[in-house]
Amino acid sequence: MPHLQGPEDGPVAVTGASGYIGSQVVKCLIEDGFSVHGCVRDPSREDKTAHLLALADKGPGSLRIFGADLLQAGQGAYDEAFAGCAAVFHVAADLGSDPSYGPPTPQRTFDSCMTATKGVLESARKAGTVKRVVYTSSTSAVMGLRPGGKSAEGYEYKDDDWAGEGPYETIEERWTVTSPRSGKVHKLWTLERQAYAMGKVEAEQYAYRWGNEHGIDVVSCCPCHVLGPLTAKAHDATWQRRIGLMLQGRSGHRMRPNMLWNIVDVRDVARSQVLMATSEVATNGSRYMLAAPDSGGELTVQQLLDTLRELYPDVNVGGDYEPPPTEDQPHAKSTKAIGELGLQPHDTRQTLRDTCESLIAIAGVQPALKA
Ligand SMILES: NC(=O)c1ccc[n+]([C@@H]2O[C@H](COP(=O)([O-])OP(=O)(O)OC[C@H]3O[C@@H](n4cnc5c(N)ncnc54)[C@H](OP(=O)(O)O)[C@@H]3O)[C@@H](O)[C@H]2O)c1
Repeated sequence: MPHLQGPEDGPVAVTGASGYIGSQVVKCLIEDGFSVHGCVRDPSREDKTAHLLALADKGPGSLRIFGADLLQAGQGAYDEAFAGCAAVFHVAADLGSDPSYGPPTPQRTFDSCMTATKGVLESARKAGTVKRVVYTSSTSAVMGLRPGGKSAEGYEYKDDDWAGEGPYETIEERWTVTSPRSGKVHKLWTLERQAYAMGKVEAEQYAYRWGNEHGIDVVSCCPCHVLGPLTAKAHDATWQRRIGLMLQGRSGHRMRPNMLWNIVDVRDVARSQVLMATSEVATNGSRYMLAAPDSGGELTVQQLLDTLRELYPDVNVGGDYEPPPTEDQPHAKSTKAIGELGLQPHDTRQTLRDTCESLIAIAGVQPALKA
C-alpha cells in the first residue's frame, strides 16, 4: 500500500501535538517542510500551543492548530483536522499528565487509547486522502511484565511480541496468578488494573484489522521509557518528572526500586515516526520497538542515579537504592528501527544530559547543589 512520499503529498495531522512526544513529531515534520495539522485538546491553552507556534515560525514547514477531544473522537471530532491529509500521526492518549483534567479513571485511560483510536481511524477513512496512519502504542502492548513470563528467562523482547504471547494461550492466562500462600487466584488483566496496557493492545490489534479492511497501512511504534528534551513546561511529567525529582535531591521517586529503566530518546521516537510514514519497507501491521539504542540504555535505578551523579558532580542527586534482584525486566532494544528504518539514535548519556538541561531551562527545576 502507498507510503507517504513527502511534503508534496499534502498536509499531515498529528494528534496529541501539544504533548511531550507529539511536540517532537511536529518539530520533525516542520523541519522536513510538511504542512502540519496539530490537534490539541484545548486550542485556547497557550501553555500547550505557544511552543508549537514558535517551532512553526522557524519553518520551513507550517502549522495549523485544530481543537479535538479524544473522548469525542467517535463523534467525528477529528474530521475537520484530517480533511485533505496524506498521513495521520496518532500520538495522543490520556496519561493523566495534566492535573487540571483530574486523575484519569481506568475507563478514561482505556477509552483514550482504544475507543478514541476507533474514532480517529474513522476520521482518517472519511478524509479519503490518508495513505498511512502511524500509531504510538507502547511497550506495555509488547511486554506485559509478569513473573513467570518471558522476562523470567532474561528474555529480550522483540518487535513482534505481544503482551499476551508466550507460554500462555490467552492474555488473561498470562495475567492470572495463583498466590503460593493462600492458593487464591488473582486476575490482573482487568480494566481496573491494566487499563493502559489493555487499551494499547486492543487499539493496535483493532487498527491492523481496520488497515486490512480499508487498504490504509497502520504502522505502530512501541516506546519504553521516553526521555530527552522537553519543549514546554507542561512536559514535566511521567518519566522526565522523576529525573527532575532526582536532580532536586528528592528520594521518593514513586517507582519500584527494582525497576529497569529502558531509555529511548524522545527525538528518536519522533524521527522514527516520520521514517515509518515514509518507509517503503513498513506495511500494515509493522511494529517498531523504541527502546534502548544499546545495552548502555538499560539502567537499573542505581545505575541511573550513578550516571546522573557523574554528569552533575556538583548536584546532590537524590535517592539511594539497593535494588533487590529481579527477573522481571523489560530488556529490549531499538534494533529493528535502526536496521530497517535507518534511525540514528542518540547516545543515552546525551539523552539524560538533554533531559536535565531542559528540565532546568524550561521546567524551572532547581538542582540541589552541593554546599
Ligand atoms: N512517555 C512515555 O514514556 C511513553 C512510553 C510509551 C508510550 N507512550 C505513548 O506516547 C503517546 C504520547 O505520550 P506523551 O509521553 O507525549 O504524553 P503527554 O505529554 O501526556 O501527551 C499526551 C497528549 O495527548 C493529549 N490528550 C490527552 N487527553 C486528551 C483528550 N481527551 N483529547 C485530546 N487530546 C488529549 C494531550 O493533550 P493535552 O496537552 O491537552 O494534555 C497531549 O497532547 C501516548 O500515546 C503514550 O501512551 C509514551
